[in-house]
Parts: sequence; C-alpha cells; structure tokens
Amino acid sequence: MVKQHCLDIDVFACEQEWTNICTCDNLPENTLSLYHDPKHFGGGQYFINHFFSDNNLLEKLKVENSLMEICSGPGYIGYFLAHKFNLQQAIFVDINPEVEEGHTKTKDMFDFSSEFHLSNALNDYTGPKVDLIMAAPPHVVTEEHYNDVAELLPDWFPEEKQGKLILLDEGFQFHIDFCRDAHKFLNDNGKIAFCFFNEIGISSDDLKGAFPNGDNNYTFEHIRHPEWDEDGYLENEDDPHQAAFILIATRK
Ligand SMILES: C[S@@+](CC[C@H](N)C(=O)[O-])C[C@H]1O[C@@H](n2cnc3c(N)ncnc32)[C@H](O)[C@@H]1O
Repeated sequence: MVKQHCLDIDVFACEQEWTNICTCDNLPENTLSLYHDPKHFGGGQYFINHFFSDNNLLEKLKVENSLMEICSGPGYIGYFLAHKFNLQQAIFVDINPEVEEGHTKTKDMFDFSSEFHLSNALNDYTGPKVDLIMAAPPHVVTEEHYNDVAELLPDWFPEEKQGKLILLDEGFQFHIDFCRDAHKFLNDNGKIAFCFFNEIGISSDDLKGAFPNGDNNYTFEHIRHPEWDEDGYLENEDDPHQAAFILIATRK
C-alpha cells in the first residue's frame, strides 16, 4: 500500500513502498519523501504534522550542526528536522537491522551527511556527539499493557515482533539505559526531545525520573499538544489536548 501524508507545512513526509522511487501522485512542491517499509511506521509523522509545524516549538529545538534520532525507525523526524534546520549531519540509531536498508536509500536524497548505527539504546553506539537527540521510543513497559494496546489498535500492531519493537520497552530498560548514557553523546548545551503519547504509558514524570540526578543535570520543558488530530487519532475523547507531548531536556 502506498500512503501519502500531506502535512500543513512547507516540507512533507511521504510514506511509500519499500523498493520504489516515490510514486505518489500529486505530491506538492517541497516534498520530502523517505524510503521505508510501512510496517516500521512508529508515529513520527504524527509529530511532524502536529508539533513541528509550530514555529515556536521549532525555535526551542533549533540547533546549528547535528542531530541524532534514536529509535529512529525510518527516520521521519530526523530527516525532517535536519532538513528544516539545514544541519550538516544526521545520525540514526535503532535496534532493528531491518530499517537500515531504508536509510541507505534515503540518505542520497539529502545534502547533509547521514549515518545509521545499529544499537540497543546507546549501549553499542560509537559514533560522534550531536547537538540534539530526538526520540520517539516504545511507550509501554509491560507485556500485559502491550497486549491491551495491540488489541485496541490491531491495524497498527499486526505483527507481534514488529509491534513489540514499536511499542514495548519491557521494564523501562531502554529508557534507563538511554537516559544514563545520553549526556556522553551530547555536545555542550545539547538537548534531548522525547515525543510521546501519554495515555498509552510512560509519562513526562517517568521520563524525568529516568535521568540519574535529572534536575541537577538537565532543565526540563514539557510541551503540550497544540491541537488535536481531526481524524480522532487514539480516540481520546475526554482530554484530547493532553494526549501527546514533547519533553525537552537541556543539558545544564
Ligand atoms: C515508536 S517506534 C518509532 C519509530 C520512528 N522513530 C517514528 O517516529 O516513526 C520505536 C522504534 O524504537 C526502536 N527500538 C525499540 N527498542 C529499542 C532499543 N532498545 N534501542 C534502540 N531502538 C529501539 C524500534 O525498532 C522502533 O523503530
């Protein structure tokens, strides 16, 4: 299936079939299209659409030279922001070797340098430091919770193995490992930004708590959802405007 997402911003992300050059019809000018297998879609385009169209937020995230997207999947967020900020380098990190092929194809489409690193959190990462780390990691921490969400959203989590890679951080281990090590790979005054849907698991306070001595080492800013998806995404009727958030942690 070829899906096209038209975003209300001047750069677009477009899902497309794995092996095809972009075949989407009627793509607007200034389209940014990436190679990816649709099964690796993990929510990044939602945040591009609903958060990164907001110039105030972009200003808070803006860096000069480099970014990393950890838990990158196909790298929607990283390619989008590196392009938008005119950076020199984008690094992508994921535990799933299957996503590397997409990066190999996508990177020739950009004029900044990009690298893919296979790593569990930053445990096996040996690449350079960056100015900004973007993260849309798995959101639930127990298998039971994973099963509940997968049952609720069967189209999103059709395959158990891939579904768990997208959604399940068993025992919060990814976050513990990542928050322990992130400072080693951040330049001075570097920032980390988490993209989260808070009603399906980990909260902003959970994230802050994962950083050893978090408040001493980082300044945190919680940014709420600026609008709600008219498609009724996640069907949170009660309190839709708090359903997604960005947490920015800036190194002191
Ligand atoms: C919610 S998806 C986000 C995908 C993509 N960033 C997006 O925005 O669509 C989570 C991603 O985290 C990756 N992942 C899961 N556990 C990981 C770990 N321990 N270390 C690195 N990546 C991990 C998965 O393979 C998956 O690509």
